[in-house]
Amino acid sequence: MTPVLEVQDLTTRFATPDGEVLAADHVSFTIAAGESLGVVGESGSGKTQVFLSIMGLLAKNGRSTGSARYRGQEILNLPARRLNAIRGAKIAMIFQDPMTSLNPFLRISRQMTEVLREHKGMGETEARKRAIGMLDLVGIPEAARRFDMYPHEFSGGMRQRVMIAMALLCEPDLLIADEPTTALDVTVQAQILELLARLKRELGMAIALITHDLGVVAGLCERVMVMYAGRVVETAPAADLFAHPQHPYTKGLLLSTPRLDETVGARLPTIPGQPPNLQRLPAGCVFADRCPYVYDRCRIERPPLSPYGPVHAKSCHLEAIP
Ligand SMILES: Nc1ncnc2c1ncn2[C@@H]1O[C@H](COP(=O)(O)OP(=O)(O)OP(=O)(O)O)[C@@H](O)[C@H]1O
Ligand SMILES: [Mg+2]
Repeated sequence: MTPVLEVQDLTTRFATPDGEVLAADHVSFTIAAGESLGVVGESGSGKTQVFLSIMGLLAKNGRSTGSARYRGQEILNLPARRLNAIRGAKIAMIFQDPMTSLNPFLRISRQMTEVLREHKGMGETEARKRAIGMLDLVGIPEAARRFDMYPHEFSGGMRQRVMIAMALLCEPDLLIADEPTTALDVTVQAQILELLARLKRELGMAIALITHDLGVVAGLCERVMVMYAGRVVETAPAADLFAHPQHPYTKGLLLSTPRLDETVGARLPTIPGQPPNLQRLPAGCVFADRCPYVYDRCRIERPPLSPYGPVHAKSCHLEAIP
């Protein structure tokens, strides 16, 4: 079956006054229909820019090369006019701060019905009914009564639900969620994650979940992709990755994370040292400076992401980590 999203050698660079920043370097991955992929890695590793590149939402100084296919159709660097037909309707993206997607000056009703009228050609009555139904689905109590409120009249958690409802209006088959729960308190976080899990089950939608939180990945994701300094360093089914990490970076993350399967709110632990400067990447492995297993070859030759066993891939020269 054609994957929902197939990304190949996606490379994103930013031009800055002090040189070029390589934010994503030959990133390749696929997301199957209905699958949930967790994207983890410490701050600045390129998680957000990879998905903004795909959505055509990069900052003006950014450029991408490579390929991103939505159900077989190339969408990377499409003109905005053609991308608009896919963005929102087929692939939707939600962010940590709901106010990046909601207009503070417009009633929720207006914002939601506009999407449906524009993308689905619905009339006002049908659009209202559909939008209220969606607010119901994401667990907003008394949706019909609150429909005409403004975003600021909702609590943080409820606003997050409204944003998710907006994202789901056109029934996308891929939802990209970038740290959707980071700003929320732990109880509300758990509720939003439960909501995403339920929507995935009920709507059969694929999810790319970008997060710092390995506990969230363990709870929601079937597969995980670990990023470091703009590169994918490891990818595997979640259970395999947690039980048998193959990249020293992943292992380092896991070793210092307590009770992964039960903790929501476990931030990525810190590994001694700093990620490399994306303007002056080393010739060899990007993790070499922090790797406890580094040897000569790692300094000279950058390891490509290669299959390791039937379901795993890693970018590491080591045969196996001790
Ligand atoms: N417009 C820009 N110009 C120059 N560099 C940029 C620009 N936007 C992002 N970057 C750089 O690209 C790199 C990757 O950023 P990205 O936002 O993808 O990180 P991230 O993994 O999402 O981190 P976080 O977990 O903090 O959200 C960072 O080093 C960032 O500083
Ligand atoms: Mg980010």
